[in-house]
Amino acid sequence: MLLGSIILLIVITSCSETSKEPKVSGRWYTESQVSKGQTLFDVNCVSCHGVKARGTVRNWKEPLEDGSYPPPPLNGTAHTWHHPKKSLVHTINNGGIAIGGKMPEFKDQLNNEQVDALIAYIQSLWPDEIYEAWESRNN
Ligand code: HEC
Repeated sequence: MLLGSIILLIVITSCSETSKEPKVSGRWYTESQVSKGQTLFDVNCVSCHGVKARGTVRNWKEPLEDGSYPPPPLNGTAHTWHHPKKSLVHTINNGGIAIGGKMPEFKDQLNNEQVDALIAYIQSLWPDEIYEAWESRNN
């Protein structure tokens, strides 16, 4: 019995360590926000930012011919974590066209709750060290 429990515990522990997504525990958002955000992301954002926000181009730091930049990955591998939540909200609402970029604005399509859910989903893809760096830098 005891051995069985120990083995079960080991299996459970190692599973939770290998399943990296979604990250919710100890963060500002809930699992329900993450799942709403994922649905919104797959409808509105995936065409540019790629599946699981991994990005669609190899080098997002390389400007295009017109001087604008390709859509970056939002999954924690690029620099999204440098921005406080309010500037992430601002980018999603207003896009980047006004500042010479390509991202369309979403303020007419998405309400505040939906924008929060999108940020929750994006951040649920970030490893703990990236989330913690974002938190200590921006809050
Ligand atoms: C038509 C392509 C396109 C779509 C659709 C799009 N984006 Fe973007 N996004 C971009 C580009 C390109 C940039 C880089 C800035 C620019 O050019 O405007 C960007 C930048 C961003 C940034 C800033 C990232 C950073 O690291 O600074 C965030 C956050 C973001 N997008 C979120 C979203 C979300 C959420 C959606 C869906 C609601 C979305 N984007 C839809 C193209 C797109």
